[in-house]
Amino acid sequence: MLDERIKKITAHFNQDISAVKDTKQLEELRLKFLSRNGLVSQLFDELKNASKEEKPVLGKLLNALRNEVTEKFNLLKDHIDSLEKESVEKIDLSLPGFERTIGSKHLLIQTLNEIKSIFKGLGFSVIEGPELESDYNNFGALNFPPDHPARDMQDTFFINSDFLLRTHTSPVQIRIMEKTKPPVRAIMPGRVYRNEAISSRSYCVFHQVEGLYVDNDVTFAELKGTLVAFAHQFYGENLKYRFRPSFFPFTEPSAEMDITCFLCHGKGCKVCKHSGWLEILGCGMVDPNVFDNVNYDHEQYTGYAFGMGIERTALLKYGIDDIRVFFDNDFRFLKQF
Ligand code: DAH
Repeated sequence: MLDERIKKITAHFNQDISAVKDTKQLEELRLKFLSRNGLVSQLFDELKNASKEEKPVLGKLLNALRNEVTEKFNLLKDHIDSLEKESVEKIDLSLPGFERTIGSKHLLIQTLNEIKSIFKGLGFSVIEGPELESDYNNFGALNFPPDHPARDMQDTFFINSDFLLRTHTSPVQIRIMEKTKPPVRAIMPGRVYRNEAISSRSYCVFHQVEGLYVDNDVTFAELKGTLVAFAHQFYGENLKYRFRPSFFPFTEPSAEMDITCFLCHGKGCKVCKHSGWLEILGCGMVDPNVFDNVNYDHEQYTGYAFGMGIERTALLKYGIDDIRVFFDNDFRFLKQF
């Protein structure tokens, strides 16, 4: 019986050892066969039960087994140790190391930081407001009539009848004016939401920077001067610009500012829709009705406001033709900036 087991275990060991490739497997082999509770020790334990006559014979067999197993084990151990030593020695320290990729700022943040630093240089502070806004701050206080199309579910994500995801950063103007007396001079960056079909030109979420300056005798000329100073710093000194009359419920008069298309230099191309001009922002003088809504005396104060899309600004500056790339987080795009 026991001699059968000895044969089996020898075969078992020979099979296992042929599969051992590294120190970890070697240790598993040792635990299985040679450790205190290993298969070989178990056989020695069983020797007690053998008869007096059998004991010397079996004892011999067992010793032979133990010696064979130990020897083979030690040989393999030496072999594996020397292989591992060799592979350690083979490391070539003069090779360049692995490059670790570190994160960088998203193009939108870079663009926003640049816009912020230009306006800070012009005396503006930076103030943020919430993305969940009241219908009143987003529309009513900004002089939107009750039936304005932007108030439609088609265009705006409503939370309930009184609250919504802000569709622009203009409501932060209301929040600031309700809290502070003039002079007020701030830009207000942030995320905004619109219920629009997603395409290369529009996305359901994007970013804007709002600007507001209110004081005694603020003029349209100052608005122009400030925005032109910004555009020169941001887009380049040699740029041509123009202001076109426009309409926004919260400004009167209202305008849109264009710069010469820097791709075709005004000759007309696909990006500027063959007009030679690119619209970069909306602006105007704060409507007296808005001042009334925040209890500013519209006889005493005047002010200007402006708003621009950060994605659009970055698209124009870097010649990107699809707004969705800002949200895809595609490494190939992000790595370029
Ligand atoms: N809120 C406008 C929009 O989302 C942008 C804008 C236009 C903001 C004119 C202004 C402004 O402050 O004066 O399209």
